[in-house]
Amino acid sequence: MSCIVAIGAQWGDEGKAKMIDYFSKDTDIIVRYQGGANAGHTVVVDGVKHVFHLIPSGILHEGKVCVIGNGVVVDPEVLLEEIELLESKGMNLTGRLYISDAAHLILPLHKAFDEVMEEFRSNKIGTTKRGIGPAYSDKCLRIGLRVGDIFDNALLKEKLDFDIKLKNLYLEKVFARDPFPFEKIYAIIDRFRDKIRKMVINTPHYLHTALDAGKRILLEGAQGFALDIDHGTYPFVTSSNPTIGGALLGTGLNTFNIEKIFGITKAYITRVGEGPFPTEEKGEIGEMLRTRGGEFGATTGRPRRCGWFDLPLIRQARRINGITDMALTKLDVLSGLKTIKIAVAYRLDGKEIDYFPSAQLHRVEPLYENLPGWQEDIAECTEFNSLPKQAQNYVRYIERESGIKLSLISNGADRKNTFLVS
Ligand code: GDP
Ligand code: IMO
Ligand code: MG
Repeated sequence: MSCIVAIGAQWGDEGKAKMIDYFSKDTDIIVRYQGGANAGHTVVVDGVKHVFHLIPSGILHEGKVCVIGNGVVVDPEVLLEEIELLESKGMNLTGRLYISDAAHLILPLHKAFDEVMEEFRSNKIGTTKRGIGPAYSDKCLRIGLRVGDIFDNALLKEKLDFDIKLKNLYLEKVFARDPFPFEKIYAIIDRFRDKIRKMVINTPHYLHTALDAGKRILLEGAQGFALDIDHGTYPFVTSSNPTIGGALLGTGLNTFNIEKIFGITKAYITRVGEGPFPTEEKGEIGEMLRTRGGEFGATTGRPRRCGWFDLPLIRQARRINGITDMALTKLDVLSGLKTIKIAVAYRLDGKEIDYFPSAQLHRVEPLYENLPGWQEDIAECTEFNSLPKQAQNYVRYIERESGIKLSLISNGADRKNTFLVS
């Protein structure tokens, strides 16, 4: 039992990467368990910003091992770019980055499909167009190409030939798009396999062996609870399980290995793309949160929709994930507000409810409690007691009403702006 999990407790972009980087110092191995390059994970160290899409956010800690688990869908072009960028900064990834042989690949065909599907569908999701939905669909259809497959050239060619023929048929006949030549896709994979050959392993075996040897493992989620394909606001979700089930499936670890589950939670809430969002603020407040919080997608650059903290959503995230601890991020962004609203319940069809009705979320009206804000800049605070009283009240209110122990507060983007709460 020396495995901790960090899960986004809202609609993604909670500041997971910053917290993963923080936890990494006390960990040996950091594992991404689902999603793909739709994720944009930002770590800031001494003012220098690093954004990761596939490589786990612990990679900046020397001597720590990072693993891309079987639940991840890997875009070879993005991963190569990330590896080469780190190498160009002088980092040696030998023995520091491993990739599951069972992770599925995202090919240009998947990205093209993602794009045309968004164009053709009437209820647009606002996907990141990184090919996520089509790649996970292929996995379920049992026609996906796995990392391990590409080292058997005959198998690779056979699978690729089938997949390209099938997708080109759709692209040309249904969507009137240009087909993809086999050579173009093969060339991408050819370059990729040369680079990663020594990084590919059986990750469940590796991780269980590491646990047996007393190593500590940190599991890194992408996206967040309310984007989960099963528990989120379907169809406005991603195509994987960012929740705890996904953490186990995407690594091969089991429930008995898990010691703590951190819910990474923003002190307000944001969402990118379409879908219901009860506490959204479309006016001045939303604009202020977006500007102060730098709420623009780390992957697509899209402005994030912003709103007030949502307790029914967090309570559901706690139940579904078994969250034991909360890391509350971006508290500094709320400085300067006279009043801070917080949704304590919803009204649905005239009745008050205190749970998260994911399928009827577009019909709920949030019921708010108003808490006094604080005016001071809190970025320099290094302990709970140095926060303004109103800020202390706000976080203790969240802790009490969510039922989750508050363990950490983040009050700035930089690694140093984090402190423990006792
Ligand atoms: P992730 O996807 O959950 O890893 O989060 P992102 O990296 O997409 O977005 C979080 C953004 O907020 C990034 O730009 C972080 O650098 C920044 N950030 C993280 N924690 C804090 C914080 O406590 N205060 C402020 N002001 N920014 C933060
Ligand atoms: P991180 O890991 C925020 C959203 C997209 C869209 C929906 C489906 O940085 O928190 P997809 O491309 O996955 O099919 O898009 O999910 N989305 C995210 N929103 N943070 C993310 O990742 C996201 N990854 C996907 O905006 O609404
Ligand atoms: Mg992000």
